[in-house]
Amino acid sequence: MWDNLPFFPEQASTVAAEVDALYLFLVGVSTFFSLLIFSLVFFFAIKYRRRSEDELPRPIVGSVALETLWTVIPFLLAMIMFIWGTSLYFKNYRPPKHALDIYVTGKQWMWKFQHMAGQREINQLHVPVGRPVKLTMASEDVIHSLYIPAFRVKRDVVPGRYSTLWFEATKTGTYHLFCAEYCGTQHSGMGGQVVVMEPAHYEEWLGGAALAAPQATAAMGEKLFLQYGCSTCHLPDDQSRAPSLQGLFGRDVHLQDADDLVADEGYIRESILNPQARVVEGFFPIMPPYQGHISEEEVLQIIAYIRSLRTSTRSNE
Ligand code: CUA
Repeated sequence: MWDNLPFFPEQASTVAAEVDALYLFLVGVSTFFSLLIFSLVFFFAIKYRRRSEDELPRPIVGSVALETLWTVIPFLLAMIMFIWGTSLYFKNYRPPKHALDIYVTGKQWMWKFQHMAGQREINQLHVPVGRPVKLTMASEDVIHSLYIPAFRVKRDVVPGRYSTLWFEATKTGTYHLFCAEYCGTQHSGMGGQVVVMEPAHYEEWLGGAALAAPQATAAMGEKLFLQYGCSTCHLPDDQSRAPSLQGLFGRDVHLQDADDLVADEGYIRESILNPQARVVEGFFPIMPPYQGHISEEEVLQIIAYIRSLRTSTRSNE
């Protein structure tokens, strides 16, 4: 639709057309009212101009019908914007459950992408067409923002927490990706490309790695898990000094302060960097914090490993 209009980037994701439709609606409404108001200003300025030095203006009686009309119409327009915008926001915000996971770290001044099959790339992201992709993003330093105009998605990547972003590409091709948050000298150069491929080509690009070792990133995480000594306390059963991590990901966790939460990426990351923040019920806060001793990339790899323990037999339920 926009091929001949140079004002818009290509529409290459499932939400692109909807985002554009909402945007055009907002632009349309604003343009209409701007023109209406400007024309009325001119029209009234001429119509009700002062005709002589001693002219007294006639008193104007209010009109309830008119007042109601220009209250109800803007109200309805605002509600349309609100409901339309909110539903699109939620759709855009919640990744589908079966999405392909890719981990992202932003640092001055590059984007690093890590596929679960082990492939790692910098400033280039290869994804399959027609499949939802979920990016879990961390920053090693300052605030960055990942922006892919052709997909109409953008999300800040903030130090100290994970943010997620998802999209489903609808067309193969190469698209721009940018950092959209000023992050220092080389900010303008912190960009790259998204390469959308046919699923078969994507598998090929993974180098058959996906078939040979679907959990290569988890394997890297396992290596770190041993290297950092996590395995000395986190044994597969709950009789050890530390909670078992088997089947932990996505499960409910009971905390010491009687709160419950779901063990997601954010919670596991916090438990590695600052374990004392939320201690699991029945355990002592004896784990040392790893803040400053481990990179965000390594944390993501360890999370991939802990996720892979999901399907293992659970020793303690
Ligand atoms: Cu990273 Cu701007």
